[in-house]
Amino acid sequence: MTAQALDEIKIGGLGASRKRVEDNRFIRGKGNYTDDITLPGMLHMEILRSPLAHARIKSIDASRAWDIPGVHLVLTGDMMATRNLAWMPTLSYDTQAVLATDKVRFQGQEVACVIADDPYIAKDACEAIDVEYEPLPPIVNPMQAVAEGAPVIRDDKENQADNVIYNWEVGDAAATDRAFEQADMVSRLKLHYPRSHPSPIECCGSIADFNRATEKLTVYMTTQAPHIIRAAVALVAELPEHMIRIISPDIGGGFGNKVPVYPGYVCSILASILLERPVKWIEDKTGNLISTGFARDIYLDGEMALRQDGKILGVRMHCDADHGAFFSDAQPSKFKIGLLHSAFAAYDIPAAHLTARGTYSNKAPGGVAYRCSFRVTEAMFFQERMVQAAADDLGMDQAAFRRMNFVRDEDFPHRTPLGFLTDSGQYGKCLDVALKAVGYEEFRKQQEEARAKGRLFGLGISTMTEPLGAGNSREYDILGIKMFDSAELKVHMTGKAIVRTGARGQGQGHETTWAQIVSHELGIPAEDIVVEEGDTDTAPFGMGTYASRSTPVAGAAVAMVSRKIRAKARKLAAHLLEVSEEDIEWELGRFYVRSAPDRGVTIQECAMAAYSNMPDGMEPGLENTAYYDPPNLTWPFAVYIVTVEVDPATGVWDVLTTVAVDDCGVRINPMIVEGQIMGGLTEAYAMANMQFITFDAEGNCIGSNYMDYLLPTAWETPGFELHSEVVTPCPHHPIGAKGIGECAAVGGPAAFVNAVIDALSGTGVRNIDMPLLPDRVWEALTYRRDVSGAPPVRSDD
Ligand code: CDP
Repeated sequence: MTAQALDEIKIGGLGASRKRVEDNRFIRGKGNYTDDITLPGMLHMEILRSPLAHARIKSIDASRAWDIPGVHLVLTGDMMATRNLAWMPTLSYDTQAVLATDKVRFQGQEVACVIADDPYIAKDACEAIDVEYEPLPPIVNPMQAVAEGAPVIRDDKENQADNVIYNWEVGDAAATDRAFEQADMVSRLKLHYPRSHPSPIECCGSIADFNRATEKLTVYMTTQAPHIIRAAVALVAELPEHMIRIISPDIGGGFGNKVPVYPGYVCSILASILLERPVKWIEDKTGNLISTGFARDIYLDGEMALRQDGKILGVRMHCDADHGAFFSDAQPSKFKIGLLHSAFAAYDIPAAHLTARGTYSNKAPGGVAYRCSFRVTEAMFFQERMVQAAADDLGMDQAAFRRMNFVRDEDFPHRTPLGFLTDSGQYGKCLDVALKAVGYEEFRKQQEEARAKGRLFGLGISTMTEPLGAGNSREYDILGIKMFDSAELKVHMTGKAIVRTGARGQGQGHETTWAQIVSHELGIPAEDIVVEEGDTDTAPFGMGTYASRSTPVAGAAVAMVSRKIRAKARKLAAHLLEVSEEDIEWELGRFYVRSAPDRGVTIQECAMAAYSNMPDGMEPGLENTAYYDPPNLTWPFAVYIVTVEVDPATGVWDVLTTVAVDDCGVRINPMIVEGQIMGGLTEAYAMANMQFITFDAEGNCIGSNYMDYLLPTAWETPGFELHSEVVTPCPHHPIGAKGIGECAAVGGPAAFVNAVIDALSGTGVRNIDMPLLPDRVWEALTYRRDVSGAPPVRSDD
């Protein structure tokens, strides 16, 4: 019998920088990804994609493909239509072509599929399909989409007379007008957040396995939200939900790319049902980069009403969002443009008004929440660029302007001007820690001195507060399905345990951290707990992992189910110790008698009793499930400060320092949290420095390979200095944690851009749109003008 509480860090509980258990298999090359799975009798599927961005399909002749030995099936839109599967509903109440019938609407759109003995035969057969196209004028941005006489892209939809998907607004227009009337000064900013791609190393794929004998459909696939896919398959393919099993094996990165439902999944399922054999589809890199899950592509325009002393009185914002040919990204049903209205949540601004217009274009569907909570990245980017512009216009110090306008610690809970309720944070303290770390005053002096010698130093500040952990279910649903999550915990008789959640990690370390939460709640060593996610036949229902919602929702469910287990274990302990429950106390890993602390039983002894010595009338076993519907989102906060030197001769900029102060509440695993921040900062640096996907006037996608779409390696990525001393526990999360996975990717880009713009101060340059490629910085500096829009398309002539 133990005589004292366990050392939580030693058993791998909360706060332990426990090594990631999943890495045992990942770094040995023993991960089990979708493409690693081979089933007996498995066939292979390849997709024929449209070479044109906008064209009417005059005819499709697949006879040559059918004749190729080894081909089992050729699927075309017309065949899909006979089963009512040519179109599918999207996660945003729109429809999307599975295989094109009438027109192609973006380059790379799925036109036909071939299922064959091996992928090479299938690919060759795709090339033998003859498609006759009649080209139509393409539309590649929102301005063209709403221009007079623009061709209607979605002429398949009744009542769709133009290319506008929605007009949406939030905030108080009249109060904002009044704020602008009272302003001493108005600061304005217009920018473009370019189209980017989450670009996980593993592309999308699925293996559908329909068994006619059992009538069961099993699909192994790369999805971040297996239960949602099961529901979608049940509703779209009209299969009984209990006969569908979605298994999401190891996932090689998701970042939002693996949330939507893609035509490839649907076609592989139909093919397996028709052929009664397993059918594997694995997307290639170009397919992934041109057709799946684009992000951002948003034009933001706004103004800020300012008082001379620096007080922000009001903000107006307008957004034009290019969604591509189908509005298929996921967001809460109530909010057409995701959580863009989280902008300015950290600032105490009396009035704000946001208008948003979504339009179709001849580009692949876009707008996925690439490592962000439904468009928060765009919101925070605009916020921090606008704040910098306003401080500059006022001639105020960047840090002082922010501090003056922050929501103060004592003002929580705080209703943001666009409607959210934030509940906790120490914004000023985070800023102070960051300023100290970067040596703010000293840097400003050095900057002046360097300038006198013709060297350009710059410092950029960015802050972010991100609404993480949708729901609550009152406000957040996707297609009417309420957003909450779940966890199931089974403690075996020897005190070892298995925990399953409705989330699905893609490398974030859930297998490590969920065990730590159980360990914290029950005192079972983390190494005695196994975590399983991603199988709809075994995991409880959940909405999946995206928008950094896992810790705020599924992680909370893990804590809550552990508490249910502890409550039952307490009854078992009372029985074993022969005292009443009221006389029992808990310390980590052990119940003891209040009046005789040496008399106790461990959680493991209680577990054994649950199977061998339970009191009369008690249900045997020690397992339970918890569904967690969070009362609010969690609101982490961060300050990122970047310093750079810009070479005036070439426009090349080098990062000198990057300081990150993240307050994500209680850290479950500090080492994993640091990894998340470093990953996010790397992506932020990539966005600011090198990454973009653009389209030429014909709608050809530029960025369909890693020669054009750049990912930074360890060589290019600057070093990061991380600070963890500010901890504001989330007041409503059972262990006080807030999400962290996306924060640095959300808040980071503005810090890099602000630093370069700061280096150019005095030139009149207010904005260079990302990515800040050297030629764009050079152009801004040399011609003393803003550089807007996507970089020009490279010409091969
Ligand atoms: O939903 P997703 O897993 O992408 O994001 P998250 O909930 O922010 O968690 C990312 C990783 O950081 C997970 O392994 C979490 O358990 C861990 N984490 C942590 O250790 N402490 C926190 N306060 C937040 C997350």
